[in-house]
Amino acid sequence: MQGATLRYDGLTKRYGDTVAVRDLTGDIRPGVVTGMLGPNGAGKSTALKCLLGLAAPTSGTATIDGVAYGAVAHAGRRIGTVLETRGFHPGLSAVANLRVIAAAIDVDDANVARVLEVVSLTGDAGRRVRGYSLGMRQRLAIAAGLLGDPDTLILDEPANGLDPHAIVWLRGLLRTLAAEGRTVLVSSHQLAEMEQTVDDVFIMDHGDLRAQGGLREVCGSHSLEETFLALTEGTGR
Ligand SMILES: Nc1ncnc2c1ncn2[C@@H]1O[C@H](COP(=O)(O)OP(=O)(O)OP(=O)(O)O)[C@@H](O)[C@H]1O
Ligand SMILES: [Mg+2]
Repeated sequence: MQGATLRYDGLTKRYGDTVAVRDLTGDIRPGVVTGMLGPNGAGKSTALKCLLGLAAPTSGTATIDGVAYGAVAHAGRRIGTVLETRGFHPGLSAVANLRVIAAAIDVDDANVARVLEVVSLTGDAGRRVRGYSLGMRQRLAIAAGLLGDPDTLILDEPANGLDPHAIVWLRGLLRTLAAEGRTVLVSSHQLAEMEQTVDDVFIMDHGDLRAQGGLREVCGSHSLEETFLALTEGTGR
């Protein structure tokens, strides 16, 4: 399995007067877990959306193996995503929801049972998603991201709503996927958890890249939390 190289080259994204991401440049490598870190409003989700063609760059580029998302062959299968905005049909079961997505990205229904097993939802798979807890919905979103056996995964705060057991499970999953050669890009502000999960980091604040590189290279002898607090100011609240 060989994941894609993701590349930002002078990426700027403005929304009116707000510069969500300013002149971002950097590579995300296959075979490792990369964390996109930053306080609320730093531009993490915007940076991920630009890679996925869900936000159009104002200038610069965000590419996947050198091309825009829209030019990636079989992107729905190759690039797995976990985004806050994924809507599941509340009146349908988890199985039915995943079958809809499987059909949309043209993967065999056999994958539905496989990914439900991965996220430990097999026993609840026939229940309507309406009755799912926050953590169950989040695990279902992760299952959907894995449906196409993607070589590249882009996850926006996938640990949201997960309990400590599930967070440890997710860490192992992301590390395993990267060890298989896949590209794993994950956004978060859970620093203690990220410190145990990621190899490389991008630290953003107010749209600017404050640091980028290997975790130990960026943090030196400091913890990730200390480094993050020294490099970012967030909203000051
Ligand atoms: N669709 C949009 N329209 C207008 N402004 C936007 C839009 N999306 C993001 N922004 C603005 O861009 C900035 C960066 O937002 P973004 O969602 O990328 O931050 P984030 O780092 O993901 O934050 P969080 O940790 O809260 O998820 C914020 O000031 C936000 O208000
Ligand atoms: Mg966000």
